Amino acid sequence: MTTMKAFSLLLAALSISLCSAQTTLDMNDLDFIPEVRQRSLFTAAGFIYKFETVTEKTVWGDLRTMFVNVNPSLATLPGEGAAQNLVKVGPCAINQPHNHPRATEISHITEGELLFGFAEENGGRPFIGGNATKGQTVIVPQGVIHFAQNLGCKQAQFIASFPNRDPGTQTTASTFFRLPLSAIRATTGLSEKEIQKIMKSVSGNVNPSLDLVCAKRCSMAY
Ligand SMILES: *[C@@H]1O[C@H](CO)[C@@H](O)[C@H](O)[C@H]1NC(C)=O
Repeated sequence: MTTMKAFSLLLAALSISLCSAQTTLDMNDLDFIPEVRQRSLFTAAGFIYKFETVTEKTVWGDLRTMFVNVNPSLATLPGEGAAQNLVKVGPCAINQPHNHPRATEISHITEGELLFGFAEENGGRPFIGGNATKGQTVIVPQGVIHFAQNLGCKQAQFIASFPNRDPGTQTTASTFFRLPLSAIRATTGLSEKEIQKIMKSVSGNVNPSLDLVCAKRCSMAY
């Protein structure tokens, strides 16, 4: 069948379905049906999950991702799919500045209070920040560098959802220090010795990491 002929047949079929309650289209022939069928891969036993895999963990908190690499069921969802993180941020700890290259994030705070901060793209606002407390939701646009810091002396927690099965994460500080020394030298104007010192402290500062000034205020032993 030529494309033109198929197209006019489709138009005819569509106008019939628009004009009457009865449709002559075989729904199984439509392109979107295979995506609907994919949903049936979820069974009665196979759609309830826990955040089992701890992706990053320190004494100051942990990060449990449910991206497609951790939960392959997400690969069966239609469209771009979805993903979710559970993030626990201890007193004075920070979920370090990072961005998600492939998805916007919608985070709901389930415990405590967190300072959410954003640094927009070149030409955008240099910094926007605000404290979000239990019961509130924060929206982080795709690709924007952001962090969640607990400046309080009690544990905080939030659940981050993404409209993508594989939103990806790029941690800002460790990404920068992966670049060649010459590039870091030229960018910062620092000596190799100074750069080595910062690199060492950044790579040793695993995520979530601690704000020592806050820890002192909260009389925390660390
Ligand atoms: C957020 O809370 C902290 C700690 O209570 C406070 O120091 C800071 O000024 C607040 N930030 C904003 C943007 O409101």
